[in-house]
Amino acid sequence: MASSLREHLVAYFQQHQKLVEAGALELLLDHTHPLVVSREVIERSDAVSPFVTREMVETVLAEGRTSISGARASVARPSDPRAPPAGAPILPFRLIQDGFSGPPIGDTPLLAYSALFHSRFRTLSRLLKGRPGLENLRPIKELRAPDGTASVIGLVRDVRETPQKHHLIVTVDDEGDSLEVLVPKGSPGGRLTFLPDEVVGLRLEFGKDARRLPRVAAVERPDIPVTRTVGRARVASRALFLSDLHLGSRSFLSDNWGHLADFLHGRGPAGELAAAIQYVVVAGDLVDGIGIYPRQEKDLAIADVVEQYAELGRRLRELPERLTIVVIPGNHDAVCPAEPQPALPTNLTTRLGPNVKILSNPSTFALDGVVVSAYHGRSFDDLIPAIPGASYSRPTEVMKRMLQMRHLAPIYGDRTPLAPSGRDGLVLDTAPDILVTGHSHTYGVDRYRGVLLLNASTWQAETEYQRMRNIIPVPARAALVDLATFGVQTMNFLDGDPSVSEVAA
Ligand SMILES: [Fe+2]
Ligand SMILES: [Fe+2]
Repeated sequence: MASSLREHLVAYFQQHQKLVEAGALELLLDHTHPLVVSREVIERSDAVSPFVTREMVETVLAEGRTSISGARASVARPSDPRAPPAGAPILPFRLIQDGFSGPPIGDTPLLAYSALFHSRFRTLSRLLKGRPGLENLRPIKELRAPDGTASVIGLVRDVRETPQKHHLIVTVDDEGDSLEVLVPKGSPGGRLTFLPDEVVGLRLEFGKDARRLPRVAAVERPDIPVTRTVGRARVASRALFLSDLHLGSRSFLSDNWGHLADFLHGRGPAGELAAAIQYVVVAGDLVDGIGIYPRQEKDLAIADVVEQYAELGRRLRELPERLTIVVIPGNHDAVCPAEPQPALPTNLTTRLGPNVKILSNPSTFALDGVVVSAYHGRSFDDLIPAIPGASYSRPTEVMKRMLQMRHLAPIYGDRTPLAPSGRDGLVLDTAPDILVTGHSHTYGVDRYRGVLLLNASTWQAETEYQRMRNIIPVPARAALVDLATFGVQTMNFLDGDPSVSEVAA
């Protein structure tokens, strides 16, 4: 494992035309978040020298941006990643996990994806091991039928239905073997949908006849623990959640954005609500991009992607400077579309102010001690068709399923491209207090096992392309969350001054 991380880091620096010295590498390998630090080293290194020295890493660590010191703090007590070390002050903003995990490990795509799925399996297995519902847990190759009852953890490879009785036959893989199991129609497991590439725990019953498939008696998903400590701000603090700005689109709701800026400056009848807002989180599709869908040019007011980001900078600077603004990219942004997506590159972010935190998609961070996972939501395009009854108009139902799987985009080989890397950055290994998504251009607030689920609307009016795809947007909404009480208010900026409605707890 250590050697693969070493190779991974060397490859990462090579990709940036840098050679990493042994001393620098040792220091990085000792750090709890070597990739976060490596990215910082690259961002700060000058273009002339081909070397990454120990001193360069030491400088980055010593100057310690909040994100790095925070990353270190977040793993100081692995049982509770939200907690900083004893005695440390609670930082207003603290990065916990950068979803982007660098270039692939392995020389071939097959090896690279194999490393990704091993990482997914191991991380999610850790969450399932020791569950009372999974007694006699064994690797698949150690199962001996007939054997009474045993449990396995597996990654779902295939699901099919028997032609006559409509039972399910599910094929699962662990790291050493694969297994076919029978999920009887009408059983508790038979009412569930098994999604490709999700990790599940299965309690199995074996009959006397060794030729028959083991039957699934119970299914355990990684899920959010029923009892856990939830994070709440200890100071008066509010965060406003937005998504899908689509700057550069002709359909960008410029006037409504102006109303939002006015509100945040405390103007208008709802203005007093703005005073306690410290944070604005934007869940991707910051700009409309170019060449994202057929004949997009005719929908663009700004046809140059660099100019689109300059306009993003201008519109974000209309908001008060005191705000910390957190942005992640989405599938319209100018970064690699494979997920996890890296943060926007520095050449596109020069016009964003110093109060803007530019993170990867997904990212997990804490705002005044409240853990937020932000994910743009491209995987809705795969999960909605795969889950019976799911729809773009009710995105939070799909988000509940993400929490049950503790994975944001499990399905490989469909519309969400997955980046092959040695760590699956789409696993939710820290249970968040808030999960925010966008992408569906709708709006939703819900709660699941203490986690607040937000789908944060859009600032783009309906486009012809959406009309064609039957997507009805719910634009110009923002979710205002009191981080101390978790009360939520929906702000609707569609008609000038916002209308404010409380969302039931
Ligand atoms: Fe979007
Ligand atoms: Fe999107």
